[in-house]
Amino acid sequence: MATTLITGGTVVSSTGRAPADVLIDGERIVGVLEPGSQLLGTDVAASVDRVIDATGKYVIPGGIDAHTHMELPFGGTAAIDTFETGTRAAAWGGTTSIIDFAVQRYGERVQDGLAAWHEKAAGNCAIDYGFHQIVGGVDDDSLAAMRSLPDEGVSSFKLFMAYPGVFYSDDAQVLKAMQVSRDTGMLTMMHAENGPAIDVLAQQLVDQGKTDPYYHGIARAWEMEEEATHRAIMLAKLTGAPLYVVHVSAKQAVEQLAWARDKGQNVYGETCPQYLYLSLEEQLGAKSGEWGSFEGAKWVCSTPLRSREEGHQDAMWQALRTNDLQMVSTDHCPFCMKDQKELGVGDFRKIPNGIGSIEHRMDLMYQGVVTGEITLERWVELTSTTPARMFGLYGTKGVIQPGADADVVVYDPYGHTSIGMGKTHHMNMDHSAWEGFEIDGHVDTVLSRGKVIVDDNAYLGAKGDGRFLKRGLSQYLI
Ligand code: URP
Ligand code: ZN
Ligand code: ZN
Repeated sequence: MATTLITGGTVVSSTGRAPADVLIDGERIVGVLEPGSQLLGTDVAASVDRVIDATGKYVIPGGIDAHTHMELPFGGTAAIDTFETGTRAAAWGGTTSIIDFAVQRYGERVQDGLAAWHEKAAGNCAIDYGFHQIVGGVDDDSLAAMRSLPDEGVSSFKLFMAYPGVFYSDDAQVLKAMQVSRDTGMLTMMHAENGPAIDVLAQQLVDQGKTDPYYHGIARAWEMEEEATHRAIMLAKLTGAPLYVVHVSAKQAVEQLAWARDKGQNVYGETCPQYLYLSLEEQLGAKSGEWGSFEGAKWVCSTPLRSREEGHQDAMWQALRTNDLQMVSTDHCPFCMKDQKELGVGDFRKIPNGIGSIEHRMDLMYQGVVTGEITLERWVELTSTTPARMFGLYGTKGVIQPGADADVVVYDPYGHTSIGMGKTHHMNMDHSAWEGFEIDGHVDTVLSRGKVIVDDNAYLGAKGDGRFLKRGLSQYLI
């Protein structure tokens, strides 16, 4: 297979940066070399098949988005990105691996849910992919089936304290599933919101005629997230399960995680770009645009966007700096406004929940470097290295070192990216939740296992390039 040298760039890892050349042989990185190194008296650059000039640019491990939902059935419809379209959009944005959620619903077998997800993804992905398992019906059968998931390379499962009647688990079910997590080392991923209480609040709002998307955020009050996060922490403490709380948006929920971590408990949390940049007032409350008072539906997701006045966004950035939150994933779950989000015109409860961001996570987080919210190294750590460590991929993914897969992004800090429809939108939905965002940087070249799949604003990959990632257990188990 071909040899490639990425030369002239600054290699950035979670712990530092240095000028270095990256030598790739076939699918693997085989050397991180002094710039201009020689091999047997000859310049390495003269002896390889291909040279990629990264002068003035950052060379980083490919992004790992550990929270995506391709084709997720939700609210009578399904997320609009397929594995083909969603992973291609990810590649455009410098993400070279995803971990999607296979779904088991109440009454279904876990094995069947996982098999269905393999069928959806196999042969369709542009980049490598793994699975977590959603367990939407915790019972004796599913609890038994969960124990063999690590053998299948699925080393984490998600439970929902929200969405009664859909994916919801009550405390007894959570407790039992966490006991399996303790026994097997599988990470428990938790959607921490008090679903039954939210449903009452939502019904009361609708009864008062408060049906606009904005009220989705009012019903799903931060107290509901704080309370459920605390409950999840206590159940994890009781059972000894390792806990990872997904899509954290409330500063009070972060305080719960920090409190538990300070006591030595093995708990972690992620946030998403929407909780760093967007707000209840500006986006969920939007009333102008093509959709008038329904415009805010574009940003209906759960947990919801939070009030900027209350300072949640600043608290999320701070938590990323202090390591009270360890990762940034997208929770990519895209729906079109037409025919999908519009199911909820007149009743916000019927708006399918989710935002599409898979294409923009690396850029949006790099903008945090530009504005001084995080360091360059922390950018790499939050978007690639920690996801690899957290979800059993490290060494193969998440790092530029000999032996690792050659998943590499050449990122230009002097480039520019304008996000929006007709500009940089390769996701399947009919709008962009990030329309108008400007990024002071640009994804120039993306390699997936040594193959250049994006270069100079052109997509060079193919459906089926991506392989299933059999993951090991988390490195964060103690
Ligand atoms: O709004 C969201 N987050 N939709 C996807 C499902 C989930 O809860 O992650
Ligand atoms: Zn969730
Ligand atoms: Zn999700």
